[in-house]
Amino acid sequence: MDTWTTAAYLIAALLFVVSLAGLSKHETSRSGVVFGVSGMAVAVVATVVALFTGGGPGALGVILLVVALVIGAVIGLWRARVVEMTGMPELIALMHSFVGLAAVLVGWNGFLEVESGNTALAGALLGIHHAEVVIGVFIGAVTFTGSIIAFGKLSGRVKSNPLQLPGKNVLNLGALVAFVVLTVVFVITPNLWLLVAVTVLALLLGLHLVASIGGGDMPVVVSMLNSYSGWAAAASGFLLGNDLLIITGALVGSSGAYLSYVMCKAMNRSFISVIAGGFGAPTGSAAAVEGEHREIDAAGVAELLADAGSVIITPGYGMAVAQAQYPVADLTRTLRERGVEVRFGVHPVAGRLPGHMNVLLAEAQVPYDIVLEMDEINDDFPETDVVLVIGANDTVNPAATDDPGSPIAGMPVLTVWEAKNVIVFKRSMATGYAGVQNPLFFRENTQMLFGDAKDRVQDIVAAMKVPANA
Ligand code: TAP
Repeated sequence: MDTWTTAAYLIAALLFVVSLAGLSKHETSRSGVVFGVSGMAVAVVATVVALFTGGGPGALGVILLVVALVIGAVIGLWRARVVEMTGMPELIALMHSFVGLAAVLVGWNGFLEVESGNTALAGALLGIHHAEVVIGVFIGAVTFTGSIIAFGKLSGRVKSNPLQLPGKNVLNLGALVAFVVLTVVFVITPNLWLLVAVTVLALLLGLHLVASIGGGDMPVVVSMLNSYSGWAAAASGFLLGNDLLIITGALVGSSGAYLSYVMCKAMNRSFISVIAGGFGAPTGSAAAVEGEHREIDAAGVAELLADAGSVIITPGYGMAVAQAQYPVADLTRTLRERGVEVRFGVHPVAGRLPGHMNVLLAEAQVPYDIVLEMDEINDDFPETDVVLVIGANDTVNPAATDDPGSPIAGMPVLTVWEAKNVIVFKRSMATGYAGVQNPLFFRENTQMLFGDAKDRVQDIVAAMKVPANA
């Protein structure tokens, strides 16, 4: 690699680090994206230039490269333009699967190059190369099938119930032991069929790992696969001798692993138990939820808000589905102009993506300083007049704290029921993503406002703007 390419890769790597730092705060997230895009542009240009100047891949190679770049760019632009915010998690899962598949192909190519005598490696270096091949193929294949199953679960094409094979932990552990044995044998006596065996084993392991994880733990799965895809890219970097791919892969791998840890903490789950496929998840049965619910209409909510001094809004996935963030921002402005204290309580796994609610609220220009994390706001509910639960369900479910048999037992939730009045915006009495009934709906201080969240919030804003004597 020439000095210019190394320098360009170093600049790209620095831009990625600055990008990650920017993405960690609302205020700097836009510049974080710009730094990330710039880093990737530098990386792509430097790689293409290095290919042409360093002997080049020949005319056919150039044509293939250009065709691949154009097809990839067209598909990427099209998907990015048409994807709904609610479709982002499955799109991301699908993209992770591409990274996994690419790592498998790079690994196989590395092996076939050696087989065809197309390498100068020998002795210990060849052994290291073969270890890189088998590790890259393994991580890539686990990421590939795991991400496909995650895509299916997130898009509703595959049931979100955990697959409960007998002895599933033994199966996972057995697969890991088999992988270690196969790797050692492959490094000593490389052989096509051993690589086939590792590939099939890893494909099955990825499938089983993610299929065994229940709906409630999917947030961790998304960040975990993000991490795996990073390590898969880093493994490809070693094989291709590409420093930037190693650095970028390590950045994605470690930040994804840290995000998984944060998600596990937010859901009070053990990291190991989740990646082992729901090991240790509550096994009791959820208590039956019975009772009468009370309903309210938009005019009634407007009246309640007119008398309120403090309001907390807890948004959830339904706000994203309804695209209700704009009328919610409008309602917030209206209330604040009337001197009402309005704040948002955002649960770490609300919606279907880490930071999902924060992105929507920022898009609708809700001021950052009134958007608080669950831990920052949970103590304030008892002094709050009205809580508006807009399309949230699992993240405000008291069963998580009260019912040890509930599938979401132990998950910290927004304690909205401690407020004086709770209004729940949803279309029906249906359960949330985890499929668990919510006793909040039957509490004495809760009233249900049925309908599409966007329509209902607009109705409330309209009702609030009508003069009192009209
Ligand atoms: P959920 O528990 O998913 O509940 C969303 C509620 O929104 C539903 O009960 C639904 O009820 C309502 N809804 C849907 N469309 C609506 C509309 N147009 N208008 C009004 N309401 C609507 O939401 P949550 O509290 O945000 O919890 C998130 C769940 O997703 C958690 O279980 C979490 O573990 C999981 N998850 C999160 C992530 C990440 S990283 N955030 C990733 C994967 C999974 P109706 O159908 O009755 O309207």
